[in-house]
Order: sequence, then C-alpha cells, then structure tokens
Amino acid sequence: MAGALDLAPRDLTTGRAGFIERAQSRGELFIEQPYELYSESNQRTWRRLYRALAGRWEKHAHPRFLDGVTRLALDPDRIPRLADINRFLEPLSGLVARAVSGYVPAYLFFDCLRRREFPTTITIRDGEWLDYLPEPDIFHDLAGHVPMHTDPAFADVLVRFGEAARTAARLARGGDCGQVESALKALARFFWFTIEFGLMRRPDGSGLCAYGSGLLSSAGEIVHALESPRVQRAPFQLEWVVNQGFEIDSLQPLLFVVDGFDRLEDEVRRLERWLRAGRLDNVAPGEPAVSREDLRSFLQAGSAGA
Ligand SMILES: [Fe+2]
Repeated sequence: MAGALDLAPRDLTTGRAGFIERAQSRGELFIEQPYELYSESNQRTWRRLYRALAGRWEKHAHPRFLDGVTRLALDPDRIPRLADINRFLEPLSGLVARAVSGYVPAYLFFDCLRRREFPTTITIRDGEWLDYLPEPDIFHDLAGHVPMHTDPAFADVLVRFGEAARTAARLARGGDCGQVESALKALARFFWFTIEFGLMRRPDGSGLCAYGSGLLSSAGEIVHALESPRVQRAPFQLEWVVNQGFEIDSLQPLLFVVDGFDRLEDEVRRLERWLRAGRLDNVAPGEPAVSREDLRSFLQAGSAGA
C-alpha cells in the first residue's frame, strides 16, 4: 500500500515543502525527519554551503566548534540524519537535536533547551539564495549550532538559558504584559548576541573567533564579523547587551566578545538574577519586536505553574 510519503514530491526546501505545510496544518510541532523527501537539489545546496564554510571555519571558528564538527562526523556531501547526529551528540553532552515543523514559540524553545533538546529545522534554504537566511534552516541549525553542542560547558550554558526563561515565566504570573515583554526582549537580545552571533577570545590568546551559529552558518557574516574594519567588537557587558536592539536582515555592525564559556555561563546566571531583581522590567525599546505568540507562550507557562 502506498504511504503518504510515496505520494509527496521530493522537496524539503524552506517555504515550499508540502510535508511541512501538512504537519503545520495538523498542529504538529515536533515531527520526524522524512529523509527520503530531500531532493538532489536540496543535497546540492548542503554541499555548496558546506564547501563555502569549511575553509572559513578553519580560519575563524572556535576550536571547540571544529572539534564538534569532527566528533559529529558531519558529512560535507549529504544532509545529516538527525538520528545519526544524536548517536554521537547525546553521549557527549546529553543534548539531542529534535526535528520541528517551523517556528517554536519562545517559551517552548527555551524550555526545550532546559531539557537538553534542541528544536531543529529540517528544511533547507533555496539554493538560489545561498547566503540569505530569513529563517533558520537545517544548515543553520545542524552545521551552525550543533557542533558547539558537543561541548559540555556550552551545553550547560543552553540549559541555564532555559532555567532563566522559566524564571521569567514564573515572574510573568504576577507581572503586567509590559514587564513580561521587556524580560522577553532582554532574553532574546542576550541569546542573539551570544548563542547566535557571539565572538570569543581564542583560548591561546591569539585574537578572536566565532562561536555564534549565525556567524558559523553564513559565509558572508563570518568574514564580516572577524575581518571587517566596520564592525564594532565590544567586550561583553550585560547592561549594554540587554538594552541593545539588533537587525536580522543586515550584516551585524556590533558584536560582543566574551572571554570563555565559564564566563558566558556566569553571565546567564547574572541575567537570571537581574530578572528576579526586576532589573529587566524596563529595557530599552526597539528590536526585536515581541510577537503575541511568544508573549502568550510565557504567560501560559507562568499560569500553568512553570
Ligand atoms: Fe539560530
């Protein structure tokens, strides 16, 4: 008997994957990775992206990221199967990559991290637009994020983030929407300037390197971030970060540098203390906008006793 997959066209391109549309219409967020639906064009896009990044990783990525690429045995030629990634990943840090059908509301996303699950997009960008990424794809998630997840100290930072989000949801119970929105903005800015676009001092003191996935999954961003004289690279300061807006659609003009992963975890703990102390109740307005869906996810988690 022919299954539903046999009838589906082979295409898991972002924005036009029928399999994803059907999952979303059924309200299914957590899904399987239907590997047989990747087209040859999808595989070619992975190959081209990997080739464009591999040399830049050698030059600019954090050494622990490069270790992660080796430990995960990332295939330069084929889109990885999440099950294969997890066989290597889980014993190293307890984290697993979990396939999702699309956008994960903010609280749910952070709460997955707390449980050591990383919501992972399974579609891949259109090969026509190799270096433009309006939303995450499997290259961003698996090649940009997951190699760092092999490092236990980095994994602990993600878990800490999930804990901070839970604290924000608990505080949301008694607070007004403005406070919750402000806390969410602060969390999103911190995440953006560290996990997505973070720079770090090299462990041997020989300059800077990238550990943020937005840099590590974009040939244009990584070179711009480390080589352009137009980029401001500031030492990480929590007060600045939580009040600093950012733009998604242009090369990043401002990045923050942390000294190491222990320092990063200390900063997430400090973020959580600031949440409790009410110091994030009124951060500077500006990007990112907090969507209704994200706000609701925190309010619901708070009232459900997160
Ligand atoms: Fe990301």
